[in-house]
Formats: sequence, structure tokens, C-alpha cells
Amino acid sequence: MDLPYAEPYKIKMVEHIKRSTRQQREQWIKQAKYNLFNLRSDQVFIDLLTDSGTGAMSDKQWSELMLGDEAYAGASSYFKLKNAIKDIFGFDYFLPTHQGRAAENVLFSVLVKPGDIVPGNSHFDTTKGHIEYRKATALDCTIDQAFDTDAIHPFKGNVDLNKLEDALKKYNDKIRFIIVTITNNTAGGQPVSMQNLKDVRFLADKYGKLLVFDSARFAENAYFIKTREKEYKYWSIRDIVKEMFKLPDAITMSSKKDGIVNIGGFIGFRDKELFRQATVYNIMFEGYITYGGMAGRDLNALAQGLYESTTFDYLEARIGQVHYLGQLLTDYGIPVQKPFGGHAIFVDARKFLPHVPKEEFQAQTLAIELYKEAGVRGVEIGTLLADRDPVTGENRYPKLEFLRLAIPRRVYTNNHMAYVAAALKNIYDRRNDIRHGYRIVYEAPILRHFTVELEPVE
Ligand code: F0G
Repeated sequence: MDLPYAEPYKIKMVEHIKRSTRQQREQWIKQAKYNLFNLRSDQVFIDLLTDSGTGAMSDKQWSELMLGDEAYAGASSYFKLKNAIKDIFGFDYFLPTHQGRAAENVLFSVLVKPGDIVPGNSHFDTTKGHIEYRKATALDCTIDQAFDTDAIHPFKGNVDLNKLEDALKKYNDKIRFIIVTITNNTAGGQPVSMQNLKDVRFLADKYGKLLVFDSARFAENAYFIKTREKEYKYWSIRDIVKEMFKLPDAITMSSKKDGIVNIGGFIGFRDKELFRQATVYNIMFEGYITYGGMAGRDLNALAQGLYESTTFDYLEARIGQVHYLGQLLTDYGIPVQKPFGGHAIFVDARKFLPHVPKEEFQAQTLAIELYKEAGVRGVEIGTLLADRDPVTGENRYPKLEFLRLAIPRRVYTNNHMAYVAAALKNIYDRRNDIRHGYRIVYEAPILRHFTVELEPVE
């Protein structure tokens, strides 16, 4: 019999989490104005809000904290991370930032101006936010299969090359760069193939554009390339990563995902000139170039984390756990994005709650139901997150309405996953009784989902 995957680590320290009653949770979510971001973490039993900054560091990472060099300039921690970035990604230049959106802020200060168009594959919400804030447009060129949760495609995160080339022809003078997000979070943690990355590079060269990767989950993307793209079957994860990162001119990175640290980010550059331009903004917004918003100890922990996340055994267990949850839900008949992604399971809320009108936020309604049922916190990746159209002020109804169950790295066991799946099954069994959702009582003009306040539609 083939041996199953097993985590290549054991548990050295535990953190207690609290169970609660349904009655308590109904009270708490009401007090939180039906926004799961407003819950206190001790009101949550299993927290699948995000896989960002929520991972468990290893003993080696914790020991790196003690070795942090907190010098303002030229700290050894900076050089440790610089060497790791050169070794793993191949970049000679980098700037630390306090997280991924800060990297976007700095890089886009150089690259985006009003009226620009930035094509890519389903830009993450902060990426889109930083583009729209600069009065530019994020143009989604993801392949159509990504928007059909039952369509099976090994690389549903791919860029549609025809859509991209059409955009490059039509808006040539408005496009400075293309951004490819690996893995494609918004479409369901779906990977982008090496071939697609190479094809996008080809088009970037053909039209004289820069290519940027949003690399938050680059290691998970490399795992899918190894396991799904024949040519790379015998390549190591590190070699695949090196091959991927020969392609972009620059990368933004939220280290809170595949860096397996609680805070941090960086920008990687191939070219010294672009690095120099971005340096000005980094010093203004983030900090001096050798720490950029991070403590020396955190730079150390990140350097170590990058080595740990780019190993096959770790990735197999990590993605294996995500797939374990996906399979349980599928066995219960619950509609989810397939194939399962790298960091989360995305429940198709439109199919799950067909009686709730789309104006009443189906995925948010499901997220609230799941919290009330079992104290599990997921997150809406749907209409609330899509914000209003900046021109018309109307709600934007995205092609997919998801409840995302994002799994922190190295934190929960498969028993926790079974608990989550059982909770969702209970709701699925009574889905036809759920006919109403929520209406907005307060919203911010941009990135409204973080602070929105809701009330139930009776
Ligand atoms: N890019 C992608 C693909 C992301 O998923 C995120 C964050 C960012 C950029 C921004 O990075 O949070 O470090 O500023 N995603 C988190 C999530 C918040 O829950 O998916 P950040």
C-alpha cells in the first residue's frame, strides 16, 4: 500500500482555542454588525478568515528571532534575507516592506499613473485598490474556465492569452506592465502554469511591457507546476521557483503567506534603475532600504521561512490538508471550486444558497451561518469584496460568489477540517430554509468589506 502524506514536523507548543454556544455566537455576531472582521478572535473556534500572517513558525524561525540585528542601516538580518532572496528567486535587488500591500503601494507609485490599464489574472483586492486609488483600471484577463466552479482545468489561474493580447493591442499606450498573481487567490487559489507564465512573458516582450508577479503563494504555485505540468515532474521545487522567477522584471510579495511569517513583505527587482526609483517611495512610506518596515528579527525569520516553504514534503502536507477538506465537502455534495486550490477551499455560495437574492450577499450570508453553526470563521470573496463600480456607484456582482475557507499553514489538524466540513453539511441540509440575507447599513468608499455594517433582511 502507498504510504499517505504526513506532516514533516511535530507539534512542540499548543495554543488553546475556545468553544462557545450557538446562543453566544448569535449575540456576538449581532454585536459585530454581521461583519466577521469585527469578531474578537476568542469568539472564534476555528479561524479560517485568512492564511495570511496566521501560520505557525518553526523552532528554527523562532530561534532566528533571537539573532535579529536591529541596526537601522546595514543590519546582518538584511543581508541574510538578501542572500535568501538571491538564492531562491534569483533577484539581485530587493526592498523590504511591512506587508504585501505596502509593496504594491511602493512599486505602483513608480509604475501606475491616472488613466493606465493594468491587465492581469484576477487582481487581489488590495492590488486592485492600489490601482484604482491611482485612477487607473485593473483589467481581468483570467481564462473563462476559472469562472465555472465545475470546469476541471489543471491551471485555472492562467491568463487568457487572447484577452491579454487584445488588451495590449487596444490599450497599448495605457499599459506599462502586466501583473500575474501566483497562485490566483481570487479565482480560488488556482495555479498558473509555467507555460502560461512563459507565454505572458513572450507577449510582454512583444509589446515592450514590464512583467510583475504578485508572488504571495509562489511556493504553492510551484507545487502545482511540479505535480500537474508533466515537463516539471522531476524538477525540485527550488528549481521550479528559479525557473518561474527568471521571467518577471519585478515581484511584489506578501511574506505572510508562503514566507510563513506573521508580518512582512518585499519587492524584488531585476533591474537597478527600477529599484532606485522605488527606493525613494520605500524610504518615504516604509522605512530605510535595509529594513523597510520590518524588525531585523522578522527579516531573519522570513529568510528561514522561505527555505522551509520551498520544500516538497512541506507543500505536499500543506496542500494535502486543503484537499482533505475539499474532498470531505465534495463527498457531502457541497459545491466548491474544483480542482481544489492551494491555500483555501472556495465554497460556491450561489449554488449553495440559491434562494438568497444576490442583492442580499449570498456568500456573506453563508459565512454568517457557518459562524453561528460552529464558531468557524471564513471570509466572503464576493459582492461585498467587489466594492461598487467607481464610475457608476452600483454594486459590482462578480462572476463568482465565494465563501473562502483559508487554511493557516501548519496550524490546524485534519480533525479540525472534519469539524468544519460537518458544520457546513448541517447548513447544506437545511439550505432551502435560508431565504434571506443582509443589507448594508454602513460602508466605506473603498475596500468596504473590512468595515461594512449589516443587518438581516427579515
Ligand atoms: N496579493 C495577494 C494575492 C494576496 O492574497 C494578498 C493578501 C496581498 C497581495 C496583500 O498582502 O495582506 O500582506 O498586504 N491576501 C490576504 C488574504 C489578506 O486573506 O487573502 P498583505
